[in-house]
Amino acid sequence: MKVVVLGQGGREQALAQAILRSPKASRVVVIPGNPGMKLLGIECIEVNAVDDIVNFCRTENIDLVIPGNETVILSPIKEKLKVYGIKCFSPDPQIARLESSKVFCKQILQEAGILTADYQLILNQEEGLQAIEKHNFSSPLVLKADGLAQGKGVWVCKDLASALKSFEHLIKSFGFPVLFEHCLVGRELSAFAICQNESYSFLGTAVDYKRIDENPFSANTGGMGAYSPCHFIEEKDQKEIENIFSKILKLTAQKNLNYQGFLFAGLMKTEKGIAVIEFNVRMGDPETQALLPRLKSDILELLMNPGQNRCDLSVETSVHVVMTSQGYPTADMNLNHKISINNQPDMIFFSGVKLGSEGLINSGGRVLGITALAKDIERAREKAYSEIKNIHFAGSYFRKDIGL
Ligand code: AMP
Ligand code: GLY
Repeated sequence: MKVVVLGQGGREQALAQAILRSPKASRVVVIPGNPGMKLLGIECIEVNAVDDIVNFCRTENIDLVIPGNETVILSPIKEKLKVYGIKCFSPDPQIARLESSKVFCKQILQEAGILTADYQLILNQEEGLQAIEKHNFSSPLVLKADGLAQGKGVWVCKDLASALKSFEHLIKSFGFPVLFEHCLVGRELSAFAICQNESYSFLGTAVDYKRIDENPFSANTGGMGAYSPCHFIEEKDQKEIENIFSKILKLTAQKNLNYQGFLFAGLMKTEKGIAVIEFNVRMGDPETQALLPRLKSDILELLMNPGQNRCDLSVETSVHVVMTSQGYPTADMNLNHKISINNQPDMIFFSGVKLGSEGLINSGGRVLGITALAKDIERAREKAYSEIKNIHFAGSYFRKDIGL
């Protein structure tokens, strides 16, 4: 099979490498990919416009296209590929609203009877101000933009002053509607499935580290590291998680919004049980770089027949540590420095890199990541951190507590 993965970060690299391990794969291309992936021997083709990608897939007789990120999933690519009989493994844009509209997601969650934070839909300034005044702040108030906001549309406000300030900022940046949510208390995890209509293969769990440093109120990022599997869920929690996937897929099928693609549940283990914070219609970044190296099943078999096969995962634990540019997650970043890698780690994933005159340079916030696999989390951590010490560029930064 000839497969194209669409995207340019570590998640897409991990997907491409998992597919390359399949005996069924005859060619795997990442579009556009990045120069770091190329150095690892992965074929990357630099085309960006939807029509050019479709043309490439036609002329190269590609059998399967896998979009990595939500922007591509929401584009008309699937529809355009369908005209030429090329399979695109992603949800239709209509049901991809599970990720792109938090209001739609909440309505579906409620209808499916899935535990989630109580919320209020705010349609104008007056409603918002009234709701903030009414909240007593014995627990924080969570303010959210409705649409895609790349992690920048959520504020967890501990007091009245911060809620008022965040509300003003939120409506200025994103407009209405806005969601106010009760704050869930517990530990967060991510769970993934490969889905087709009502069937799914449960892919596994991971824990993402979203904040820039150890302080839980520090800046939100795309993800600073992850480990897999999540070690604080029990058998009962696992059943609840699988039940969440069953319920959501059953409901969407009933509504003729048949889901096909990866489904990512952002979860919180609370006192009342496993609650859904959000759904994403793709794999997570960096969770994929932690999870897929553990996958022993043939990913192409899972993608061709979702729900027909169980995913076989290594019992080993993985730890993935992300290295970022100085200044991230602000826009004011220290970029374009040469990346030196003294000892090539077993598993390195490239994201924000470009080719400079002397080799790879950092060109984005999240630059690269290292995954280590070992018998237990302590050993995986130790290996990941000993490997990342061999990588340097001016201003490089990474969290020191992934997997602790
Ligand atoms: P989201 O974009 O909805 O995933 O939210 C981003 C982050 O904000 C989540 O990963 C949580 O850490 C936090 N968050 C969102 N909603 C809630 C909530 N209702 N209660 C507590 N934390 C939340
Ligand atoms: N790591 C979180 C995400 O991919 O949205």
